[in-house]
Amino acid sequence: MDVCWNFLLSLFIIWTRPYGAVTQELKLEPMNSYVLRDSDVGFRAMVQGSWVIMTWFVKETQVLTVRAPAEVIPSSDLYSARICSTEGPNCVDFTMHNVTRDQAGPVTCNVQGPYKPQTAQLHVQESGTVSIPGGNVTAIQDQLVEFQCVTTSWFPVPSVSWSQNDHAVNSSLYNTSSTAEGEVFTSTSTLKIQAVSNTQVECIATLPALKTPKSSFVFMQIAPKPTDWTVLIAVVVSFGGCALLVLFVVGIIFCYRRRKEKMPIYQNEMKRVTTESQSSPRADEQRNGHVNPSYVPEDHTTRSRWN
Ligand SMILES: *[C@@H]1O[C@H](CO)[C@@H](O)[C@H](O)[C@H]1NC(C)=O
Ligand SMILES: *[C@@H]1O[C@H](CO)[C@@H](O)[C@H](O)[C@H]1NC(C)=O
Ligand SMILES: *[C@@H]1O[C@H](CO)[C@@H](O)[C@H](O)[C@H]1NC(C)=O
Ligand SMILES: *[C@@H]1O[C@H](CO)[C@@H](O)[C@H](O)[C@H]1NC(C)=O
Repeated sequence: MDVCWNFLLSLFIIWTRPYGAVTQELKLEPMNSYVLRDSDVGFRAMVQGSWVIMTWFVKETQVLTVRAPAEVIPSSDLYSARICSTEGPNCVDFTMHNVTRDQAGPVTCNVQGPYKPQTAQLHVQESGTVSIPGGNVTAIQDQLVEFQCVTTSWFPVPSVSWSQNDHAVNSSLYNTSSTAEGEVFTSTSTLKIQAVSNTQVECIATLPALKTPKSSFVFMQIAPKPTDWTVLIAVVVSFGGCALLVLFVVGIIFCYRRRKEKMPIYQNEMKRVTTESQSSPRADEQRNGHVNPSYVPEDHTTRSRWN
């Protein structure tokens, strides 16, 4: 927000500044620069009219002097400058090498003479790591799944977003909180989504100084619903139970009928044996004549039939 306002204010000042006959124009670009620590950053000064001495300040410290037409006097090899126009020294490129967090702040170009000093803002940022510590996830269909993304060693707090199969996830589905750890920040973003299909879930962290955001992704795989299994088990169990019951009933009926059939046969047999022994004395004689341990009445009847 501050940055935005500064920028708008700067634009406002540039647009509304009267181009008086007294003050010559000195333009500085860009008015806001976002760079990563240890990288190089450049500012360009455009000067109307003729001038002799240009000085550059980083946070109120003079770091480089340019003497027209082309003499550059840096305070150290962390700063350099060169004339960027062919016609004359009306364009100067100033470069800061391997910037540090300490150098963040105002960068001012001052030209001796009827020029108003111009100040740009340098923002030095740091990008750290992005990870989803939970790794790949196997979820049950329609289950609410929680993902956590951790960004470590960033400055300032990065903007964290999520995507699912490369489609941005609605920001109402995640929360991000940050804590300062020394000079950097660690953030944790929590995403809660419903498991619908197999997807790639990606956490993206970015900063204005990053040309390409940093990200980390995992896969969410959908497992079959356990309810399907319980239904299947219930079906199997109930079918099995029914079958057992049927078998049991059939078994009872079978046993009962066999017992019922056996009873009259046995009684008939007994009757027949007694009547036979009474009506045929020969059979009685035979029985007395033989001392046969393996004697059975069945044998007797068949033999008597053969006789
Ligand atoms: C900038 O840093 C790189 C690597 O850290 C180093 O090789 C290079 O010499 C540094 N440049 C200056 C001007 O210090
Ligand atoms: C996650 O799953 C993908 C694809 O199924 C696989 O390539 C990757 O190695 C897995 N990652 C981990 C951390 O298991
Ligand atoms: C995000 O979700 C909220 C609430 O569920 C909804 O009102 C809003 O329209 C959604 N935004 C987009 C871009 O889908
Ligand atoms: C975000 O945080 C708020 C308050 O802590 C909570 O009510 C909400 O459920 C969270 N949303 C997500 C997606 O975690």
